[in-house]
Formats: sequence, structure tokens, C-alpha cells
Amino acid sequence: MSASKLIVDKALRASISLGSSKIPSELAKSSAAFLSSGSTKATLPDLPYDYDALEPVISSETMTLHHTKHHNTYVTNLNAGMEKLDAAITAGDVSGIITLQGALKFNGGGHLNHTLFWENLAPTGKSSGPSGHLEACIINCFGSLDAMKAELSAKSIAIQGSGWGWLGYNTATGRMEVATCANQDPLQATTGLVPLLGIDVWEHAYYVDYRNVRPDYVKAVWDIVNWDVVAERLAAVKK
Ligand SMILES: [Fe+2]
Repeated sequence: MSASKLIVDKALRASISLGSSKIPSELAKSSAAFLSSGSTKATLPDLPYDYDALEPVISSETMTLHHTKHHNTYVTNLNAGMEKLDAAITAGDVSGIITLQGALKFNGGGHLNHTLFWENLAPTGKSSGPSGHLEACIINCFGSLDAMKAELSAKSIAIQGSGWGWLGYNTATGRMEVATCANQDPLQATTGLVPLLGIDVWEHAYYVDYRNVRPDYVKAVWDIVNWDVVAERLAAVKK
């Protein structure tokens, strides 16, 4: 097994522990396919809905560009980075291995973050509110759903430059937390929190539809949150 294959396998297995029964199952399929095929390639996942399914909150134009151009570029560059890593490890080039870490974090994070993001959005009209254990956990940790949404919105809007807002789960404390990550830093790898709900606040996620008004985009995105996926992720991480 190649060095990069070992790394991808580890990354996929880590992703499977994200806590979502939906995302991990998809990643588990990818992992299984990856392991059985001998491939060392990450692949762009299909969206679980049509490109125009999130309108009017997110336009078909934005979704098409975001998925086929931006996410696809992270996948392409992740694969290029892993090929270089494989060569560097094979050559015993420690300096080369270290040099690649930034690109692997950026492109690997971009791939993981967007995969999570697509899954935690729901077609217009299909978003129901949180219920059951998820709702109880939110109320226990934040006081109310509105309080959680206000905190996550405010912190996401306040990110300087590009990044992500997250509702995550702290396995040490057993509590949900709001966190932000710069650029494409992946939540779990950089903070230890298990991602439950992510909001992409890179300009490429909203500029076509909202121009520079990030607060309007963040406010609107709550209308298309897939709470079932958030609940599945929480249930999986608490097992
Ligand atoms: Fe993005």
C-alpha cells in the first residue's frame, strides 16, 4: 500500500467518525470503494439534490460553480498533493513532506468541509426544525434554538476573510459548541470538535446571490438547514 493511500485511508476513517450517519455512510462507501479499487484518488461527491434545489436562498449558478469549480479544484489539488507526498515519502524527503503539509491541509480541508456542507443543506421547503434529542441538546447548551442560531450567525459573519462557521460537538465535555475556522481548516483536525453543522462563508458561497452582504446570506441559509442530517451526526457521535 502506498504512503498516500495509507494517509487517505486514515483521513477517511477519521471522517467516518465525524458523527453523522449520513455523511459517514457516504464516506464509508467512498472508503470501501477506495480500498477495494486500489485507487489513491479523492473524488468529487455528487450533490444529494439538484443544483437549483436550494433556490432562492442559493442560486443554481452559485451551486454549480461552487460544486463543479471550487470543490472540484480542492479535490484535484488534494490528489496532486498526495501524489507529491507519496513521492516525498518514498524518497525519504522529510523537508519535502513538511513542505506539503499546508497544501494538504488546505485542499483536504476544502474537500472535507464542502462534503459536509452539501449534506447539511436541504432543498427549499424540506427544512424542518430540530426536534427530539437534537432540540433538547441545543436548548441545554445554548438556552434556545434562537440563541444558538444567533451565536453561530454572529461568529460566522465576523470571520475575517474566508472561513467556516460550525456547530460542533465536544466529546470531552459532552456539549455542543460554536466555533469558527479560517480558510479551509477542517474543524475536527484543528479543534477536536466533531462537526454537526457547517456554514461556508467564503465569498464564493454567496457573492453571486448576495454580493458583499454576508449577513443576509447567513440569515437566509437557516431556511435550508437539513436538521435531519445534524441530528444523525449528533446521534452517531454520542454512540
Ligand atoms: Fe466553498
